[in-house]
Amino acid sequence: MLVKIIDMSYDGNGVAKHSGKTIFIPHTDVGEEVEIEIVKSRSKFDVGSVTKVVKASSYRTIPPCPYYNECGGCAFQHVSYQRELMLKKMILQNELKKVGYIGDIDIEPSKSNYHYRNKIKLTHKQGELGYISAISHDFVGIKSCLLAESDILDAVNVAREYLKKYKYAHLKSVYFRKFNDGVMIIFLFAKREAFLYDKILDRFPIFLAEGEVLESDKAKINKKYNVVKMSYKILDEEFKIDAKSFLQVNVDVAEKLYDFVVKNVDGKTVINAYSGQGVLSKLLAKKAEKVIGVECQKSSHGIAETIKMDNMTNYNAKVEEVISKLSKEADFIVLDPAREGCKEKVLEEIIKSNIKNIIYISCNFSTLTRDLKHLTKFYKIQKVKFFDMFPLTANMETCVVLEKY
Ligand SMILES: C[S@@+](CC[C@H](N)C(=O)[O-])C[C@H]1O[C@@H](n2cnc3c(N)ncnc32)[C@H](O)[C@@H]1O
Repeated sequence: MLVKIIDMSYDGNGVAKHSGKTIFIPHTDVGEEVEIEIVKSRSKFDVGSVTKVVKASSYRTIPPCPYYNECGGCAFQHVSYQRELMLKKMILQNELKKVGYIGDIDIEPSKSNYHYRNKIKLTHKQGELGYISAISHDFVGIKSCLLAESDILDAVNVAREYLKKYKYAHLKSVYFRKFNDGVMIIFLFAKREAFLYDKILDRFPIFLAEGEVLESDKAKINKKYNVVKMSYKILDEEFKIDAKSFLQVNVDVAEKLYDFVVKNVDGKTVINAYSGQGVLSKLLAKKAEKVIGVECQKSSHGIAETIKMDNMTNYNAKVEEVISKLSKEADFIVLDPAREGCKEKVLEEIIKSNIKNIIYISCNFSTLTRDLKHLTKFYKIQKVKFFDMFPLTANMETCVVLEKY
């Protein structure tokens, strides 16, 4: 079937129409004409796979990754970086139209669009490391990844060598995190299992953990090897970080994001909600009279406490539990929730309060637009800036500045 790509979906797929039905087609560009076969059919839409590009976009490139068609982690390797940014802007415009915003959208590109990630998580399967495909949901063994910083790839090779020698029944995944003083390898087990240390691992700090997801409070660090300290430097501030704490994955873009937020905050008492390990709180504390950080994860809160300035207070709580009290004393709030967005109670309490301005940082459109639908009844969107924190992938970091009507 021959179709024309007329739009981009929020998850980076080309959109075509055929006999009135919408078809999502990965790895295409708007304006292209492609021959496709339908690989999935639902009542409201189909998913197609390209069999031949009949009219190619002038931005088309050869995808450099051998796993591009299988893995599904990347969405834009088939076009130039310049085009990727144009398509992402188009996607964001489509999303923000849903809340009535048709104004400007500024773009902040990433310094490098390859090897920018300071953290990757690989699934373990019978001695192999790989990703769970976003396309087939099958395990795809990988030897390399274009998203990971190159020091991480060195550690991945060592871990692969190690796992050829030692077989583990309960090893679920292996995390690799790059810090200023090296790459940390975290072996995450579903159940505790005897770990055999080998000198091949000597160059790396090693953590053994147990749990579902490393960043959860339920994950337990059971043992450490070779760990001296892990430091993370951002905007000339140095932090000591543990294995579980959240960090932005692209330091270059994170610095630009924090800088933008600080420049746009103009309040006396600022709530930094979902504050992580307090990097942003500390930067805000240099400008505002008082900064109140709220973070539910214990280890991140613990780090925020170690970098506290006199005008900073940190709450180890869920934002929804403390917002009604805190919103009474603040005039500005920064919201940087995880993918799930804000609980309705958080938005309701902000709306009821005297908070004049909001900066909402989001890595997920669907929850961003859901939350903006509430907020824009009372707050006007003043500025939108898109930070390309996750080049090559369809994930996008968006920062929205709002002011009360
Ligand atoms: C996207 S991260 C942002 C962290 C921080 N602003 C930064 O730039 O590093 C979201 C953070 O919110 C925390 N979190 C998730 N749900 C929460 C909740 N209901 N209340 C408070 N913190 C929460 C997570 O542990 C994580 O640290």
